[in-house]
Order: sequence, then structure tokens, then C-alpha cells
Amino acid sequence: MGGRAMYLDDDISAVRDTQLNVYNFDTLSKEADASYGFLRFDPNNTCNLHCVYCHNHRSEALIDLDRFVWFLNNKVVSVSTFQIGCVMEPTLDRRLCDFMLAIAASPARPTKDLMLQTNGTLLNKHDYDKMRAAGLTLLSVSMDAADPETQRSLRGGMSLERVFRNISGFKSACPDVSIEFICTVTTANVDKVDSLVELGLGIGVMRYVFREVYYYPDNDVVDHERMPALLLSDGQFSAMRERLEAKYNTDAQFIFATSSYLDRAARKMVADSGYVGRDLGRMSETVRRALG
Ligand SMILES: C[S@@+](CC[C@H](N)C(=O)[O-])C[C@H]1O[C@@H](n2cnc3c(N)ncnc32)[C@H](O)[C@@H]1O
Ligand code: SF4
Repeated sequence: MGGRAMYLDDDISAVRDTQLNVYNFDTLSKEADASYGFLRFDPNNTCNLHCVYCHNHRSEALIDLDRFVWFLNNKVVSVSTFQIGCVMEPTLDRRLCDFMLAIAASPARPTKDLMLQTNGTLLNKHDYDKMRAAGLTLLSVSMDAADPETQRSLRGGMSLERVFRNISGFKSACPDVSIEFICTVTTANVDKVDSLVELGLGIGVMRYVFREVYYYPDNDVVDHERMPALLLSDGQFSAMRERLEAKYNTDAQFIFATSSYLDRAARKMVADSGYVGRDLGRMSETVRRALG
């Protein structure tokens, strides 16, 4: 592969990697000011889709914009990467660009990336001029397959056509903002990711993040009917990685994160985020082994 590949399956980075959302905003507001490697923020706590593998609870709770501005100016020393949209869907919040502009005008203006992570379906409802003004550097769109059926069945009925229309409109308005596809890899799409890469390369997507699906059986949100059959068997993720590496000679960046890496990263993030009483539960691999 001519491109840059990164394997996330080993050491967890030591930098502070913190979520900021309706669950811990009050807690972090009482802590001392801090510097963050990653600050992953959700202004709202709901979504317009129900992806089959999503474990996150939802509610109508919101972060107040004025309190957010206070937080940025009093509790943040610096941020390397500021991500908007981590546990829920940020484009559902009409105030999205106001939050982005507040970040840009504060000590939290990131030194590396200002990233928006989204399912892409409602991107067109927001003001791209404001996103540019806020210094957005990376649009991260969740995409699991190039064929509409697979995408719809994994990502809660999402319309691929609509998301592509939105990406195209965004690209015209923000040509300097990089776009990545972030793909959750399951048995339903592990053999189909090649066409997703081809589709992305065709529209100038230069970064691809592949996340092996994880499963916490004690969670009460995720679709327990479908999940066991969607888990990859041992070696399937690395076989996909090797196939993509052998096939694509491209300048695009490929990032591969195993489910065990994501589990360890999530546990560190829980600690770094000051959550009270949050328990991820048992890891999927335990279940996979039990299922034989
Ligand atoms: C929880 S979503 C929040 C942002 C936004 N709503 C979106 O879908 O992009 C963040 C990312 O986590 C991924 N994700 C959700 N459940 C997952 C799972 N069980 N295993 C691996 N990745 C998962 C999603 O596909 C998405 O790319
Ligand atoms: S993965 Fe993102 S789009 Fe899908 S249900 Fe979860 S928050 Fe919504």
C-alpha cells in the first residue's frame, strides 16, 4: 500500500482523552482547568437513527450554550483535537454552528483538528460558512458500505443517496476541509469495504477509519437479536486489513482499530472523563468465545 496505515490494537495513548456531554458536564465544571489531547463533545443527547450496534442511551437533555462558553474560558487550557459528535448525533442540534464558533473564539480552539463526526443525514441543515469560519478541519462521516441495502440495514434505515448529496454539497462549500469515512466493521460488511474505499477515493476522501464492531451484552440499548451474528471471528479483521493493504496503492490514510483496542480506549476515556458510576460491562470477546 502506498498510503499511510495505522494499526490501533496495542498501546493506548497516554494523552488525556475526554468526553464532554450531558452526563459529565457538571462534574468537569467543578474540576481544575486542564489541557486535553482529545476533547469529544456532544451538545445534545439524541439521534435521528437507530444503528444496530449503537450502545448509547439517549435523552432530550442539552448543554446550555452560555455555560459551555464559561466552561471553555475557565476550564480549558488547551486542546489538540476537538471533536464534536461522539456519543450522539450533533447535526440534530440547531445550535451546532454556534458551539463551533464558541470553540474557535476560546482557549479550546484546537491546535490540531476541529472535527465534526456525524451520520451525515442532516448536515445540509447547517451553515457551512460558519463551519469554515470556526476553522473546521475534518468532517468524519460514518459509512459502512457502498451499497444502500447494507448501509440501511446496519445504520437504522439511513439513506446513502441523501448522505452522498450532503457530502457533495459540503465539499463544494468547504473544499479545504478534509473528509474521512469512519466504518464499523461487522460480518455484514467486512467483505464489502473495498467498494466503500473505491467510492470514497472517487470523491476525494483521503482518510478511512475501520473500527471492528464491539459488543457489551449487558447493555440495554443495543440490538441483542442481531449483534452476536455481526461479531467478527478471530482473524477476520486482520484479514480485511491485509486485503485492503495489498489492494490499494493510494496516498489515502487507513486506520484500523480492533474491538479490544476500542474497549481499552473506552475504559481509559471513562476514567479521563470523570464519569460517576459508569460501567461498560463485559467485553464482547468473552461472549464470542462463549458462543464458540
Ligand atoms: C456513536 S457515533 C456518534 C457520532 C454520529 N452519530 C455518527 O454515527 O457518526 C460514533 C461512531 O461510533 C461507531 N459505533 C457505534 N457503535 C459501535 C460499535 N458497537 N462498535 C464499533 N463502533 C461503533 C459509529 O458507527 C460511529 O462511527
Ligand atoms: S451510531 Fe451515531 S447515528 Fe447511529 S444510532 Fe448511534 S449516535 Fe445515532
